[in-house]
Amino acid sequence: MKCLELIFGAVICVLLIKAQTLDDPFDENEVDFLDNYDDYQAGETRAAAIPLNNAGSEANFPKLTLTLINPADKAQIFAFTYADTPKILTHPWFNWRLQTLIYAFGFTENMASVTTQAIIDAYFKRGGFNILIIDWSAYSGTVPNDYNVAVGNMKAVGGLIGGRLSSIFTRAMLRRMHLVGHSLGAHLCAYVNRGIPNNLFTERIHKIIGLDPAGPLMYDVALGNKPLSSSDAEVVQVIHTDMLQAGAPFKSGTIDFYPNGGGINGIQPGCPIFDKANLFIPGNFCSHTRSVLYYAESVNNKENSFAATRCGNYSDYLFARCQRQNQQMGFNAKDHEIGDFYLQTNSFAPFDRGLAGATYLFTAP
Ligand SMILES: *[C@@H]1O[C@H](CO)[C@@H](O)[C@H](O)[C@H]1NC(C)=O
Repeated sequence: MKCLELIFGAVICVLLIKAQTLDDPFDENEVDFLDNYDDYQAGETRAAAIPLNNAGSEANFPKLTLTLINPADKAQIFAFTYADTPKILTHPWFNWRLQTLIYAFGFTENMASVTTQAIIDAYFKRGGFNILIIDWSAYSGTVPNDYNVAVGNMKAVGGLIGGRLSSIFTRAMLRRMHLVGHSLGAHLCAYVNRGIPNNLFTERIHKIIGLDPAGPLMYDVALGNKPLSSSDAEVVQVIHTDMLQAGAPFKSGTIDFYPNGGGINGIQPGCPIFDKANLFIPGNFCSHTRSVLYYAESVNNKENSFAATRCGNYSDYLFARCQRQNQQMGFNAKDHEIGDFYLQTNSFAPFDRGLAGATYLFTAP
């Protein structure tokens, strides 16, 4: 029963039991109606986007875990299976007073990937966050041919995790969480939030940060995939670094950053020339990966780091035809400054050029 799973359940259960005598709001047969009504109010089509077939059943994803990082030693991890996720709340590494980061890696990635480790390192160093990784490495694919399977798994895994989060975390905890994802993991974050019922008793996560959301298959409307978009959370920050190849080809958030043009003009500075003859060599993912490295660096940066200019397009930025705006890419972004923002980075770490990055410089390092 739903109310048994609620942590701050006492008061809500009383309300629920009272409501059940009149009209059970969680009656199996009425859940669809409630979902659809909420969608209707929110102007969304969420219900249709979640896979509702057997592929979305937890039995098909026995190796899916939410993995908690030890706040005293980032090399120590504790993987909670889907069934065990409620135990996160009582685990000694989990601190109720802190915010929680939930990170989702992308296609073919895992806990050991450079990107995953960069995010863990950054939040670990910063402190103040419980760090949870959605470890879907058993389903994220191992070879290029797995991509379409990974897309299907991504949607199912997102829906499963979303449903789980909403039954184990309180509204207050969900409200303060950050969902961060790279590549297919960025879309996974969107499916997580769509999987959280939108009603009086739970709450969707307010902030999603998409690090170069995956482009292939995700923007083909005919395939029925629903990419991360500005409607998936109150704040959807997207960092575009490889729009021509692996990344999303379009604006996709409430706040979109295009460092060095977002890759629409080619590779990120410091990355090797894209090798079209050998698509899956590591060098070809340099620009795509930069989204994570820029973001990870921003987690420990202070005021004025990764300063960015609001601009209608890249050429206006190049020719300084835009007004400077008070926005910063990454962790320190101002949630209310919405729109498209351009900036320049260094070619190698540290990538941050501070305030200088808000203005294009032909001779930047
Ligand atoms: C960029 O936007 C400006 C208007 O601000 C427009 O005049 C210009 O043609 C645009 N450039 C491109 C390449 O789209």
